[in-house]
Amino acid sequence: MTDLRVRAAGPEDLDAVLAFWKTAAEGTSISDDRAGVERLVDRDPEALVLAELDGELVGTVIAGFDGWRCHLYRLAVHPERRRQGIGSALLAAAEERFAGLGGRRADAMVLVRNERAQHAWSAAGYGPEEHWRRWVKPLTD
Ligand SMILES: CC(C)(COP(=O)(O)OP(=O)(O)OC[C@H]1O[C@@H](n2cnc3c(N)ncnc32)[C@H](O)[C@@H]1OP(=O)(O)O)[C@@H](O)C(=O)NCCC(=O)NCCS
Repeated sequence: MTDLRVRAAGPEDLDAVLAFWKTAAEGTSISDDRAGVERLVDRDPEALVLAELDGELVGTVIAGFDGWRCHLYRLAVHPERRRQGIGSALLAAAEERFAGLGGRRADAMVLVRNERAQHAWSAAGYGPEEHWRRWVKPLTD
């Protein structure tokens, strides 16, 4: 795909990203609000990665590195732009970032029912860890 542009989001992109997730992302996140994404971009200006086609937002991924592990969130491609390699391009950009930071292992949380996503993660070389279960505690109401 020649005119696909992958770049880090800036503060000016955040409203569009939040609107995009309403139609393109699967499930919701406790951080899907203006304060949540502002904090992300403020803390790590390269973490929110966008894909644009002719200037139109067509995909996102959050590529977070905490100094220890690499975590991927919010991989999403516009419903009308799927199966064109955009998700793969976003993951390639995220992994390039991780490699540059010295990251050694990347992970993603994938809903058990989200079979389409499992195909995409699997195609990119990710696989489920059978012996682990994520333990979670919400820190806000
Ligand atoms: C998952 C998602 C991001 C994939 O994005 P995409 O741009 O369509 O992915 P790509 O075109 O790069 O696909 C790469 C490979 O993944 C696999 N794949 C992707 N979608 C697939 C599907 N619906 N069925 C089977 N395999 C699929 C294929 O092997 C594909 O390669 P191919 O098209 O050459 O066969 C997209 O479907 C999406 O936004 N889904 C809703 C949000 C979501 O579930 N995100 C993941 C949260 S964990």
